[in-house]
Formats: sequence, C-alpha cells, structure tokens
Amino acid sequence: MRTTAELREGFLSFFEEKGHVRRPSASVIPPADDPTTLFIIAGMQPMKRWFLGLEAPPAPLVTTAQKAVRAGGKQNDLDDVGLTNRHLCFMEMLGNFSFGDYFKDGAVDFAWEFVTERMKLEPERLWPTIFAGDPELQLGEDEIAIASWERYVPRERIIGLPRSENFWQAADTGPCGPCSELHYDRGEEYGCGRPTCAPGCECERFLELWNLVFMEFDLAEDGTLTALPRQNIDTGMGLERAAMILQGVDSLFDIDTFEPLLAWVGERANVPYGSSEDATKAYRVVVEHARTAAFLVAEGVAPANEGRGYVLRRVIRRAVQFGRRLGLEPPFLHELADVVRGQMGSVYPELEERRSEVTELIRAEEDRFRETLARGEKLFEEMVAKGEITPEDAFRLHDTFGFPWELTKELAAERGLEVNEEEFTRLMEEQRERSRQGSAFEVDVRVTGPRTEFVGYERTDVLTAILAYAELGDGTFQAKLEKSPFYPEGGGQVSDAGYIENEETGARAELIKATRLDDDQVLTFSGQGFGEGIRVRAVVPWSVRFPTMANHTATHVLHKALRDLLGEHVKQAGSAVRPDKLRFDFTHPQALTPDERARVEHAVNEIVFQNRPVRAFVTPIEEARNLGAMMLFGEKYGEEVRVVEIDGYSRELCGGTHVRSTAEIGPIVILSEGSVGSGARRIEAVTSGEAFALLHERSRESEQLRAELAEARKQTRKQARDRGADVVYRDESGDVVVAEVKAVKGSALRDLSDQIRQAKKALAVLLGSVDDGRVYLVVNVDPSLVDAGVDAVAVAREAAKKIDGGGGGRPNLAEAGGKNPAGLADAFEVGKSEIAAARR
Ligand code: ALA
Repeated sequence: MRTTAELREGFLSFFEEKGHVRRPSASVIPPADDPTTLFIIAGMQPMKRWFLGLEAPPAPLVTTAQKAVRAGGKQNDLDDVGLTNRHLCFMEMLGNFSFGDYFKDGAVDFAWEFVTERMKLEPERLWPTIFAGDPELQLGEDEIAIASWERYVPRERIIGLPRSENFWQAADTGPCGPCSELHYDRGEEYGCGRPTCAPGCECERFLELWNLVFMEFDLAEDGTLTALPRQNIDTGMGLERAAMILQGVDSLFDIDTFEPLLAWVGERANVPYGSSEDATKAYRVVVEHARTAAFLVAEGVAPANEGRGYVLRRVIRRAVQFGRRLGLEPPFLHELADVVRGQMGSVYPELEERRSEVTELIRAEEDRFRETLARGEKLFEEMVAKGEITPEDAFRLHDTFGFPWELTKELAAERGLEVNEEEFTRLMEEQRERSRQGSAFEVDVRVTGPRTEFVGYERTDVLTAILAYAELGDGTFQAKLEKSPFYPEGGGQVSDAGYIENEETGARAELIKATRLDDDQVLTFSGQGFGEGIRVRAVVPWSVRFPTMANHTATHVLHKALRDLLGEHVKQAGSAVRPDKLRFDFTHPQALTPDERARVEHAVNEIVFQNRPVRAFVTPIEEARNLGAMMLFGEKYGEEVRVVEIDGYSRELCGGTHVRSTAEIGPIVILSEGSVGSGARRIEAVTSGEAFALLHERSRESEQLRAELAEARKQTRKQARDRGADVVYRDESGDVVVAEVKAVKGSALRDLSDQIRQAKKALAVLLGSVDDGRVYLVVNVDPSLVDAGVDAVAVAREAAKKIDGGGGGRPNLAEAGGKNPAGLADAFEVGKSEIAAARR
C-alpha cells in the first residue's frame, strides 16, 4: 500500500472484509433538511438521520470515502490553503460506521489492525488520545476507551484531552459523542523538545491521523445531551493526511495525488516549485483550488455572489490571482481542472459526466475575473498613489467594480498598507441594510436632476446632453442624461455596457454601471472631460446589446418550455441575463434527467426555428392578468405593466430588451443544470454567437477525437502487420504450414493462425510462440481436413507432451501451452506426423 488510490481502496476493502457495506460518496452539498453547514465536512454528515434513529440505515455497518469541502461557514479553511502544509479545501474522508453494532473496543480493534497491518505503521509511533471528561457535560474520563487501547499500547502513551479536543460534534446541534484520536509520532526531530511534548502539543511532532467518535448523544440547542437510541461509531481519517504519513512526506501537497497537478503548473510557470516560499504557496493554492473548483462545478455549483456559488467564485478567483504570480495568465484553471478529471474521474464519475460544464464554467469565471482584475488593479494603483487605501476605496472597488475585498487586503498588505477592516465591514453592512429596505440603488447616488428618458428599447445610439454631473474622484463620475440608451440593471438583466463621447472634444467615458431608480436612472462612468450641459453621443455597442437581447428572449422561451415539459409547479426563482450567457433559476424538486434536459433543449430551439415574432406592449395590470401573462410571485407591479409576447407562445411581464423575432436568438445550448438549494434548480445556457462558438469548439473536438481514433486504428493495423513480418516459417513446402512467431499468445496467436492458413492456402497450420519462458502452440485445421478425420485437439494434446504441457479446443482449432520452450521443434514434428497419420 503506497499510493493514495491504493490507500483509499485498501481502506474500503478492509472494512468490506470486516462486514461493512461500501457506499459511494454522497454529494458534497448537504441534504436539504440539514442547514447546519454549507458543505459536507465529515463522513457522518449524510448519515445523520441514521444516527439519530429517524431512518433505518441500509446496513448496520457501512464504509465510505466521502468528499468534503471545508470552505465557507464556520469550517473555513479557504484562506489557510497554501499558507500551511496542512490545509485543503477539498478533501476525502475515509470512515467506518456502526449503527448500534460494535462500539468502542470494536472500533479500536479495527483501527489498530488497519494502521499496523495494512498501512504498516510502526506501533511505537502510535499514540491514542481519549476524552478526559467534562463537568459541564456531566461526563467522566473515558475509561472504556483507555481499556480498549491498553490492549495494544502502554498506558503512558494514552493521553487524556479535554472537551475541546476529544468531544466531537458536526455542528452546534445534532449527533455527537466523546472521541478518541490516533496520533502519529513523526519523531523527536519534528518536536519542540519540551518534556511535556505529547499529542495535543502545538508543535509539529504529533499528527492526528484517525478520529474515532463514540456517537451516543444528541446535542440540543440549549447544550443538553440526550442519549441516542443506540450506541454508534463514526470514524474519520483524512485520506490526504493518511497518505502523507504513509508516504513519509512533510506536506499534504507532496503526496502522489498532487504530483501531476504541480507538474502541470511547473511546465507553465516562470519559477519552479519550491524555489521560494511565495512560489511554493502559489503552486499549492493553484493545484488545491483546481481540485475544489472541479468538484464543486461537477456537483452543480455555479459561481455566484452568495452561498456556495460565492465560495466557488472565491476559489476560482483566488487560484487565478496566485497563478498570475507564477506568470500564468487566465484562463488556465479550467485546463488544470481537466487534469484533475483525468486523474480522479474513474473514482468520481461526476467529473466525467459534467466535464464540459466544469471547463466551461471555470473558464467563463476566469474570463470575467480577468476583466475585473484589469480594471480594479488600475484603480487600485491610482488609489495607492495617494499613499493609503481608505475603507471607502476598498468598498468602492468591491461594490462598483467587483474587485474582491480579500484581494484589496492582500495587495495593500504587500505594499505595507493596512485597510481598516472594521470600517469596511460597516460600509458593507450599511449597503446590505439599504438593499434590505428595498431601495433599488446599490451605488451612492450623488446626482439629482430631471428624469431621464430611456430610449434604449428603440435605439442604441443617441445624441443627448448631460443634465446633472458629479465627480466621484479617481477619474470616475456620475451623470444623468436627458435621453439614455443604457438599460439600467433590473429584472434579472444586467446593466448595459457602453460609452459617451463629448461631441465637441471627442473625449470618451466608459459606462461602469447604469443604476435603476424606480422609473429613472443614474449612470456611473470612468473618464474625463465632461460636465453639466455638455452634449454627448451615448452608445451601447451592438456587440453588447444584441447578445443580451437574444439571451433575454431565450430566458422567456426557456421559462415556458420548462413549464410545458415539467409542469405548472415550475416557477421562476431568479434569473441573470448577460451578454455572454443566461442563467435561469426555477422551482423543481429534482435534477432533470438527461432525457428531460435534451427535450428542453430541443423544445427551445424548436421555437427559435419557428421564427415567432416578439413584441412588447404596455397595458393595465388587469388586462395583463386576463391575457394570462406570467408574473413573478412576490413582485410588486404598478397599474400599467409592460408585457413581452412571443407570438402564439408566451406572455410575460418584463421590462427587459428583446429581439424582434425568435430566430434572432440563434442556437440555444444548455451549459449546465444543477441545484441551487432545496427545491430549486438552475439552468445556464448560451445563445447566438456564444452558442455557435461552443458548438464549433465541440465539433472541432470531436473531429480531433475522430482523427485520433483513426490514427490509433492505423497503429493497430500496423502492429498486426509488423507482427506478421516476425513470422518465421519452418516449413511451408506442403499443405501443412509450420511457423513460429515471437511473443504472441491467446487470441492474437489464434487470429494469426487463421491469417496464415488463408494467406498460404494451407489445409493446416501449426503455429508456435515463446513468451516469457512459456511456450504456446495453435493447431488450425481446414474443415475439409476435419471431415477427413483430423482432430486438432488430439494433435495439440499429443504435441503438448513435448513442451511439458496440455491442450484443448475444438476439432478445427486447438491450442496447447507448456513450460518447455526447448521442446517446440519436437512438438512441431509430432504435430505434423499426427496430422499425416490421421489423414490416411
Ligand atoms: N466525524 C468525525 C470527524 O470528521 C469522525 O472527525
């Protein structure tokens, strides 16, 4: 047992031998009824209901390797990844579980046998810790655990530790119990040298290897313990940690699993792994996060601004940020995620099944982040030039430009600057409060003025004037226009991008964001040379607006198609319409089957091909209701509403921008379908040019695969031919051909005997081969000769005596194998004379 894969398999099969049922890893997203953690952090978590006795387990004894993600929420290791030798976001937990079957001594026996006999760790290096008792819990020292371990380990190596160390609970409430941890002594050279140094010490000498939890209580919110219906065992051994000990390396990143990933980065980076502390850190962040990101996307998580999606976004962005320090420019992480798939796809098939989503989504997020970074870093530099980064700066970077706070903090720290985090948090809180109170604006509105006329439904290029203007500093300003083609963020559609141009001077300012204020809007720009009263040309580039419109109309088509195919329970739960793709969240209790997904994709494209006209009209809300227009539950609408109608197909209340007919959408391709919390699903899709690019890429890939397949076939044929050339004929003078070939056996040898019989038009072929000290013989006889009385089996058996072996087969085709290669010539002779004798 050496590799991580061998360790995982060795563990699971060991417990199978001991009567446990092996189960696949559950999803890393907790079941809908367990809100205690954002992700699964321990092997027992998907089994809580079995421990609590709420549901019968599938078997009394179970073993798993469970995927776990420790990021977000209370168990947040994200920021430590790369800084230490010991932290991973994504990890696998090996565990054995007993539901009311064996208890403490059984768990100790199995653990001891596995680590000493299978992992072959030296028994003298193993130190168990046990629960020392806790007055508040009214529990004393765990004497049974001591007695269990004393059967293997001297008493002085069994260490009692307090509740904080040796009482395990997955969350603030739920199943829990005293635990016992097996620690591994790496040797004095790793230690602090203090005479008291023992497991539990802060230093590097003792490593926790395996946690055995004696799960017998349920912890209530008020801190009281009640006994569970049965005494259970829950254990957890981090696979990577165990592999590190097994392989005798000092860091989790030096185990075999990370090798190909580090090598991949090494081929592209401008400095080698280990060349400096910073380089080591960056390599580790990149490889770890590639794994985490690949697994999260494969589980259906998509980058977002909250919850699990936010963790994923941060993981991808953090990896990109550290990758850039090594000279890796995004997008690169999606390729590394594909290396992860190649490596782990056989154990975790979801990586194979969702391969394209994994690469697509990670790449899209990398692209987005690249743009954000370029813009944010420029601003950051401008801010730094004045000697400090104020909390307001950090807030504006975050809020207006999407530049991550963590990055601001890190960049500032690199320059020896500190940003007042408390103040920043307060600004964030304030902003959250504003949006809770329903105020629509996320940016500070610094300008007031007459209402802007929005002309963006009809036009994307207008001549107009600035009615109100306010400098924000750092080359940005806010303005109100008389007429605006810019769609302000709302109804799921993102703010338009674009620019204004000073008609007189030609100066340009880029639109950062168009913000909605009821039925008015305010615009934030970056640029100089503007002021109140200045006449400008305002432009939304068609390359931005058109795909946004296509995506918005496609969202309506998707909404209707889902209701038609899945049922009326499907309700829109959110959406994001952007130029590059669309996202649609809807209520539905389970994942779409591959067939349903295909049907949805087919149905929406069908509507595209029907080229139905799309029109919008404003009407009293009552009238819209009578027309059966779809409305969003919980949304407030005014007296007059705008209805977007796809002719003969759907009507929906909507303020967004749309194409004029469905054919303008172009192909619609679903990128992914996944869960967003309990009872809600998310579809991401691309249309128009993006869809074409994706289909093109797919067809290029399949062409490449086809070419590779053809090449592989050619190679196989060539090998067969080459093998043919190796044939040495002993005798091809008559109708019985005798030949020898190097190192061929089994079906290949049989096939070759057929080929020779046909090529030489022989009535019988005796074909021999020596491979690795063994000798093989095939007797291949034409049916006419069988009719004449020749039995290939009899011939083979007789010849086999000369090669110290035996044979068998059918009358026309038999084989023999033996261990005396020197006898092959004799065997051929015997074979020939046997055939000759039988023919007479
Ligand atoms: N559930 C326990 C842990 O994860 C075994 O440490």
